[in-house]
Amino acid sequence: MTTNITWKSRWTFILAATGSAVGLGNIWKFPYITGEYGGGAFVLVYLACILLIGIPVMIAEIMVGRAGRSDPVHSMSKLGKAEGKSSNWGAVGAIGILAGLMIMMFYSVVAGWALDYVAQSISGAYLDTPADAIEANFSQLLGSHSQQFLWHSVFCLVTASIVAGGVTNGIGKSVDILMPILFGFLLLLLGYSWINGDFSAGLHFMFDTDFSKLSSEAVLVAMGHAFFTLSLGMGAIMAYGAYFPGTSSIGKTVLTIAALDTVIALVAGMAMFPLVFANDLTPGQGPGLMFVTLPIAFSNMTGGQFFGTIFFALVSIAALSSAISLIEPGVAWLEKYGIKRPVSTFSFTAIAWLGGIACIFYGEVFNALDYITANIMLPLGGLMIALFVGRALSRPSVSEHVGMGDGILFKCWWFALRYLAPVGIVLIFFNSLKLI
Ligand code: PFF
Ligand code: NA
Repeated sequence: MTTNITWKSRWTFILAATGSAVGLGNIWKFPYITGEYGGGAFVLVYLACILLIGIPVMIAEIMVGRAGRSDPVHSMSKLGKAEGKSSNWGAVGAIGILAGLMIMMFYSVVAGWALDYVAQSISGAYLDTPADAIEANFSQLLGSHSQQFLWHSVFCLVTASIVAGGVTNGIGKSVDILMPILFGFLLLLLGYSWINGDFSAGLHFMFDTDFSKLSSEAVLVAMGHAFFTLSLGMGAIMAYGAYFPGTSSIGKTVLTIAALDTVIALVAGMAMFPLVFANDLTPGQGPGLMFVTLPIAFSNMTGGQFFGTIFFALVSIAALSSAISLIEPGVAWLEKYGIKRPVSTFSFTAIAWLGGIACIFYGEVFNALDYITANIMLPLGGLMIALFVGRALSRPSVSEHVGMGDGILFKCWWFALRYLAPVGIVLIFFNSLKLI
């Protein structure tokens, strides 16, 4: 069974893949882990991982999805079989489906926080409020299980309703308009931060590279985040690749997506850290970073109530387009077994919803899911994909499927996929286990 619907154009695919990539990873997670792991050196390792590991793996994922024209499990086993290799490669897709489910569990809780901040913005909860009271607002939310439960449930319900209707129908179009607006708002916050924050302290924090501060765990987290932020290593981009037009260039597309994702994360960080330093907050204050720094900005700016409401709504929508891609691979896979789309969507989401409830009640569950998926499962999935395309498949068939010609671009990618990515991932794993 193959998928014949393709995205209308390369551009539509870019928007959907960008919708998957751009999300809480950029705006919520990147700034706070950058704060926790000491800034500059961490950012540099993250950027290196995007370039040397993330981009090559992303090209590989899209290639497999386009060549297989199916869900990740079937695409991988089909391609493997076509080359006389084991169909067990499909297991990589299965692990990815599990990773997506596990990410959705905590992702929807954080998206719920963003929804709560939409409500807080509308009611003016943090307007003209001192920084410490704004911090207390976030602690209050973390302490309220019922409030988190409510928004987490709303988010799961909305995500499931959209996925149940089918992916090609609606997402592309909304992402199209909303992502540029979100970017505009980030620039507005950046401008605010520049004028009212300690901009130079923020710049120094994010870009001064002091490698003595860099622990082996920080390197692992930076690599894990490169996978997380680009939606790699679990088949999300591969699932969308099934709809990628046969004739378009994968390389150029991937560079566009990675560049957009990276710029958005950096701008988000640069909007927050100057406010951290100007308001005597600490960079390493954890998951609440965005929910404290940005309300401080909105609280003081003219029209802050309006801007705050729209901003948190846009963040929620960015989270939504990412969440859709977290459950799409699993739903597409269940569909292949004849389970109707609405049924598979709602049962799959229900499991994530239950896991999210566990995250709300037990912070350890939240942290463990985040840590295991981003730092272990996604890089491991990425490693398997790199080995599958770079080593299990033959060079002529890869070259034909990827359609990049046989010039320098293809050679660089092929080298990165066969050597840089696998060796880099393994070294970072070993390093974090203190084996080297
Ligand atoms: N890339 C998303 C973000 O940065 O928020 C998160 C994500 C989506 C990770 C889809 C993995 C995935 F498959
Ligand atoms: Na991202």
